[in-house]
Amino acid sequence: MAIQQTLSIIKPDAVKKNVIGEILTRFEKNGLSVIGSKLLFLSKEQAEKFYEIHKERPFYAELVAFMTSGPVLVSVLEGEEAVAKNREIMGATNPAEAAEGTIRKDFAESIDANAVHGSDSHENAINEILFFFKEDEIFSKLEV
Ligand code: CMP
Repeated sequence: MAIQQTLSIIKPDAVKKNVIGEILTRFEKNGLSVIGSKLLFLSKEQAEKFYEIHKERPFYAELVAFMTSGPVLVSVLEGEEAVAKNREIMGATNPAEAAEGTIRKDFAESIDANAVHGSDSHENAINEILFFFKEDEIFSKLEV
């Protein structure tokens, strides 16, 4: 087992529902620590670039519109196998398929408004963290 870092985004629907604290608590109760965090209102350009991998997908324009519809909380989470652990805590992308007790089961409305994003691999986690954070905005438990 390895200590990893991963990127989490609490999306506009969950920020509007006032459940930032409840979602962060889920991470903390499951062994992940928030080691960097900020509220941002993404520009269209930022959202397009962040989700560039989905550019050819039919839902891309809707995804970008949704992610720029209100502020988001971007966080760096750290812990044992953080990438997989975060995805387990989030639940399936489509909340209709999400397991009981997961964030998406409890807080998400639809596959678009699905409350949270989490990196899907260690490599993507590094790139996604660097997309939003400078080195001096991250406070690893391994270094303090
Ligand atoms: P996220 O983990 O942020 O990554 C891309 C997002 O696209 C995904 O969550 C969903 O909110 C959204 N999305 C909309 N339609 C689909 C779909 N058919 N398959 C995957 N993701 C989708």
